[in-house]
Amino acid sequence: MKRVAVLTSGGDAPGMNAAIRAVVRGGASHGQAVLGVRHGYTGLIAGDFLALDSRSVGGILDRGGTMLGTTRCEELKSEGGLIRAVQKLREQDIAGLIVIGGNGSQAGAYALSQRDYPVVGVASTIDNDLFGSEPSIGSTTALDIALEAIDRLRTTASAHKRVFLVETMGRNSGYLALMAAIAGGAEAVVLPEIESTPESVAEEILDSYRRGKSHAIVVVAEGARLNAHSLAQHFRSRHQELGFELRVSILGHIQRGGPPNAFDRLLATRLAAAAIEYLASERHGVLIGIQRGAISATPLSEVASRVKPIDLELTQLARMLAY
Ligand code: F6P
Repeated sequence: MKRVAVLTSGGDAPGMNAAIRAVVRGGASHGQAVLGVRHGYTGLIAGDFLALDSRSVGGILDRGGTMLGTTRCEELKSEGGLIRAVQKLREQDIAGLIVIGGNGSQAGAYALSQRDYPVVGVASTIDNDLFGSEPSIGSTTALDIALEAIDRLRTTASAHKRVFLVETMGRNSGYLALMAAIAGGAEAVVLPEIESTPESVAEEILDSYRRGKSHAIVVVAEGARLNAHSLAQHFRSRHQELGFELRVSILGHIQRGGPPNAFDRLLATRLAAAAIEYLASERHGVLIGIQRGAISATPLSEVASRVKPIDLELTQLARMLAY
């Protein structure tokens, strides 16, 4: 029986546990013994492994976070870190590694594969900015959470005729913000990908009131040049002139925690089961994702050198529906 290892890395995403479970149980059916690596690449470099079997991954399908723990590991970016990581894997007679994570994690996976170590990535990030998967594990749950927040904020905003700036996560990508704005019926959206000015956002807000609306929800991506705090500061300094009352709600890590929705459980299970199958059949150096509804394998070299852009045409849809 071959030994393989699995780790979760970078920001946790709802569905990571479902993915670990599928790797372990899929491994059993492919005759692979699976070791978990605690705390991502940091644990790998330290040689922090634990044996996993089908029973040890019971009851985690519906749990958020990751049972293995995760870190953002600077050390793996160095030559020494990479050497130590491969050494620890070889010392334990581990034939391959599955990396469940987003951009930074898959860049690490690519670096390990460049050192001739067999690695398969599994696309997992709430940001949904990973090239090679549409969507990635966790992003639809994070969107659900943002929508629940927006739905709740809209009722209180409407009661007070207020403006709410709602900041969503997403790092440098406006994906979560744009989708939340469309599905949440926001009056305006501020994205990293498109230049907005405080004046243009103020005009969109004022125009919503002129059209008879009783509130204005502005979804602001955390990575936008104008983040929610700076926009709020600007609007407050012009309060007399603008006339609207403003509140700010930063969703932050609430979007990342808690149980995965049905889609993410299924996605995580399908991608991770495919990943262990790839590794067991000696196909590696790829990221397992989903594209046009089917499982896909994209070379890690491509994943590491590209970022998935958002569909900018959807900003027109957001604007049209805000009317
Ligand atoms: O990449 C996932 C993510 O949640 C981003 O949306 C966010 O910018 C970042 O991680 C937050 O990182 P941390 O948990 O280290 O604060």
